[in-house]
Amino acid sequence: MSVQILIIDLGSQYTQIIRRSLRYLGFHSIVLPPEKSLEWAKENKPKGIILSGGSASIYDADAPKIPNEIFDLNVPILGICLGMQWLAYVNDKDAVQAVKEGKSYGPAEITITGNSQLFAGLEEKINPHTKDFSVRVNAWSSHGDSVEKVPAGFSILATSKDGKVIEAMECVEKKLWGVQFHPEVDQTEDENIILNNFVGKICNCTQDYSKKDVAGEIRKNTKEILGDGIAIIGVSGGVDSTTLAAILAPALGEQLKAFMIDTGGMRKNEIEKVKEIAKRAKINLQVIDKYKEKFIKEISTTIDAEEKRAKFRKVYGEVFKDVAKSFNATHMIQGTLATDLIESGSTGQSALIKTHHNVDLDLGLKEIMPLSDYFKFEVRELAEEFGLEELVAKRQPFPGPGLFLRVVGVPVSDELLEMVREADYEVAEILKKYNLYDKISQTIVALFGIKTVGVKGDGRVYGYSMVVRTVQTTDFMTVKGFYLPPEVCEEITSTLVRNPKIVRVLYDFTPKPPATTEFE
Ligand code: XMP
Repeated sequence: MSVQILIIDLGSQYTQIIRRSLRYLGFHSIVLPPEKSLEWAKENKPKGIILSGGSASIYDADAPKIPNEIFDLNVPILGICLGMQWLAYVNDKDAVQAVKEGKSYGPAEITITGNSQLFAGLEEKINPHTKDFSVRVNAWSSHGDSVEKVPAGFSILATSKDGKVIEAMECVEKKLWGVQFHPEVDQTEDENIILNNFVGKICNCTQDYSKKDVAGEIRKNTKEILGDGIAIIGVSGGVDSTTLAAILAPALGEQLKAFMIDTGGMRKNEIEKVKEIAKRAKINLQVIDKYKEKFIKEISTTIDAEEKRAKFRKVYGEVFKDVAKSFNATHMIQGTLATDLIESGSTGQSALIKTHHNVDLDLGLKEIMPLSDYFKFEVRELAEEFGLEELVAKRQPFPGPGLFLRVVGVPVSDELLEMVREADYEVAEILKKYNLYDKISQTIVALFGIKTVGVKGDGRVYGYSMVVRTVQTTDFMTVKGFYLPPEVCEEITSTLVRNPKIVRVLYDFTPKPPATTEFE
């Protein structure tokens, strides 16, 4: 069966999440840029089309343009955010108002006002006690322009801000549906009902995806690409690379060379833990530690976040090259996830947010990224399948550039790295003691290199601050702050200020957007 849903990527950070959500609901889909969409649609005859959101305004000269013929295919179309604005604009040139200032990000309270197949079943799930039809959904919005009036033939399905903002519309006759908010992200509390209604009820797609096949598919595809080559894989002890190595190790045998680079930016006891995990997962792992000094020396020359990442990448690339040479490798296997590619701007049209250290490393090796279609929670499920759940899946993620990203505003040094390493460990221990560690998706402990005044004993101290950031999320595309109880904050604060150079402990529960999870 060919792919039933075409997602046209208009540049949203969330485009791949639409795909993931559909997979979660049991449907394969394909993401294509607008210019490739028409040809594919004519050839493959999808049962439905989703227009993603995007950061552009339809009035921008370089805004992605959807070919007009897409609207003549007589296939149901769901426009999300910018996608909805396109639907409105195509049907009425005056329907969309460009707003350059005051873009809207974050939660929006949406009132469903119209009766539509798109929202069927939402009422019972969201508000089981309301008798009247209007139901409020906490949705995630991230947009600038807005649809000011619906084109002729369309009806309004949902609004926000007391009816002032049009949040959803439809024209059943033309098979067009639009939502201004993002039903694909977790923060929209619709439990994926909206996408399921569109794909299942409106487009009549049949389920064609089962997550049972994932490990087998990853092995088969990787073997096919590798042929009789030799592949290296860097294992960080994180969920992604470790799970991937565990999936591939039995299938590739001696063709797979797994190694770990000790960058000097690892968490406390990290190397020992990773060795243990590798042993259990039957991964034959080599630890390479001779480049530690080089990493610190290079990265300490700047305090700029992107430059630090660039330096990290540079040294990391050199080490990889050396390792590849020593193994006579032909391929490099990476545990890069969809999220990493989206945020590095390496997929589709989405804007660059941060350079991830392992994306697009040019080593002269052929790259294989077997997880590039998957999101964190899916990889965690795979880890569980491989019995790695206790060891890996329940550990919080940790970025490749590690503690180098957690010394902010001052050049990294052995001493400062050691301070954040110890603080990171202490905070984790306290969170475990209060049974909070497993409820938090990620804890970031960073040293802020701005000096402020404090008093310890009888003396003035002019020292640094530690920042503790705890967040909750499933995919890290969006996160919300995990608010720590006061007694936990108190214990963390009193523990961290024991370090003579730390005078303050700050707490950061800012959601993403606008703040990214890491500080750099
Ligand atoms: P941000 O800060 O982008 O982080 O919201 C999302 C998730 O990605 C991790 N992260 C990285 N992981 N290399 C990695 O391997 C990187 O360069 C990198 N930057 C961020 C971050 O820890 C969080 O889990």
